[in-house]
Amino acid sequence: MFDVNKIRQDFWMLQGKTNEGKPLIYLDNGATTLKPNCVIEMINDYYKKFTSNIQRSDYQLAYQVDEAYQKAREVVADFINCQSREVVFTYGATHGLNQVAYGYGLKNLSKNDEILITVAEHASNTLPWYRLAQITGAKVKFIPLDDKGRLTLENVKKMLNEKVKIVSIAHVTNVLGYCSDIKEISKAVHEVGGILVVDGAQSVPHIKTDVKDLDCDFLVFSGHKMCGPTAIGVMYGKYHLLEKMEPLMLGGGMNSRFDASFNVLLKEAPHKFEAGTPNIEAVLGLKAAIQYLQAIGMDNITRYEVQLRKYAISEMKKLDNVIIYNSDADVGIISFNIIDKDKILFGHDVSTYLSKHGLCLRSGNHCAKNLWQHLGTDSTVRCALYFYNTKQEIDKLIEVLKTTTLENCIDAVI
Ligand SMILES: Cc1ncc(COP(=O)(O)O)c(C=O)c1O
Repeated sequence: MFDVNKIRQDFWMLQGKTNEGKPLIYLDNGATTLKPNCVIEMINDYYKKFTSNIQRSDYQLAYQVDEAYQKAREVVADFINCQSREVVFTYGATHGLNQVAYGYGLKNLSKNDEILITVAEHASNTLPWYRLAQITGAKVKFIPLDDKGRLTLENVKKMLNEKVKIVSIAHVTNVLGYCSDIKEISKAVHEVGGILVVDGAQSVPHIKTDVKDLDCDFLVFSGHKMCGPTAIGVMYGKYHLLEKMEPLMLGGGMNSRFDASFNVLLKEAPHKFEAGTPNIEAVLGLKAAIQYLQAIGMDNITRYEVQLRKYAISEMKKLDNVIIYNSDADVGIISFNIIDKDKILFGHDVSTYLSKHGLCLRSGNHCAKNLWQHLGTDSTVRCALYFYNTKQEIDKLIEVLKTTTLENCIDAVI
C-alpha cells in the first residue's frame, strides 16, 4: 500500500526546517531529488566499512566491492529490462549523451547525414549534436512540435528519410512534462535505418521503463533525479552498438593491453567505457535508490504523481494570477508564471519569494533555451513533483501563490 506519510519518514531532509524556520516543501524534483536514508547509509557504509577500489586488487575487501559493483549493474539491468553488459555507468545523462554523440556519431555520420532533435530538448541533448554536426558536416534538424509543444508521431514521420542517422529525443520533456510515444517512434526511425537515442532523465525516475519494449537503441538517465547520488548515471545501449562504439575517455580499467608501439587492446563493453576509478560510492548509492523505488513500485509512483499533478493543476487554475503552460502534462511537471498588474513577474523573483515560505521551485529556462520562442516566454517557474510530495504541500503553494505580487517579490529580493 502506497502511504506517503510513511514514505516521508525515509527522508531526513523532510523532517527538518529551512533556515527561515519553515517546513521544507521541496518541489524542484526535475532538477534533483532528495535522498532517502537507505541511499545515504549505503554511501556511508562504503566509506566506513568497505572502502577499496574495484577490479584491480586481489584481497577480500576488494572482492567484496567488486561484487557489490557488479550487483549494481545487475540491479540497473533488471530495472530497465536489459542485459547487465548493456549497462554503462556514466556521470549522468549529459555524459551519456556526449558518449553516444562522439562514440557512435563520429564513426557513423558524415556530410549530408541528418540528426533530428526538437526545440524542447535540454542543452545536454542539443549541444553534443551541434558539435557532432560541426565536426562531421551532418545537419541538425528540428522536428516540429504541435501547438502545445508535444512531439507527435506524425511530425516525426514527416521528417524521416534515408539521410536521418540519429533521432535523439526526451522521453519526457523537462519544461512541459510531455511524454513521447517512444515505441512507435523507434519503429518509424528503424524503418529508415536510423537509431533512436532516448533522453530518460525526466522519465526513468517517474515511469516504469522497459528498453526491450521501447526498442530504443540508447537510453540515458541520471541517478540524482531518482533518489540516487549526484555524478552517477547510466547509458544503456544495445550490445551490438556498444561493441562498435568508441569510448569517450581512455585510461586505467578499460584496456586489456597496451605497449610502447602504441598497440592498444580495449576491454569489451561495458568496461571499455568506464575509464579510471569510477564513482564507486555513487554506483552503490544508485543501486540502493533503485531498490528503494522498486520496493515502492514504479507504477504506484506514477499513479500517485499523476493524481497529485491533477490536484495541483485544478487548484492553480482557480487563481487568476497564474498562467499555466502545460495543464495537460503527462507527469508531475507544471510550468507557470505569475501575473501582477498585467505583467509577468520575473521568475527568479517569484522563486525567491516562495523560498521565504519554505517552498523550493526553480525558475528560468531550465536549460531548454530553444523552447522559448515556442512558449512565448523565456522563463517559467517550474513545480516538479515526486512521490514524497503531498496535497498539503500543494495547498501551501497555492496559499503563497495567492500573495505573490510584484511588491512582495521585491521585498523578498532586497
Ligand atoms: C531532460 C533532461 N536531459 C538531460 C539532463 C541532464 O542531466 P544531468 O545534469 O544529470 O546530466 C536534464 C537535467 O535537468 C534533463 O532534465
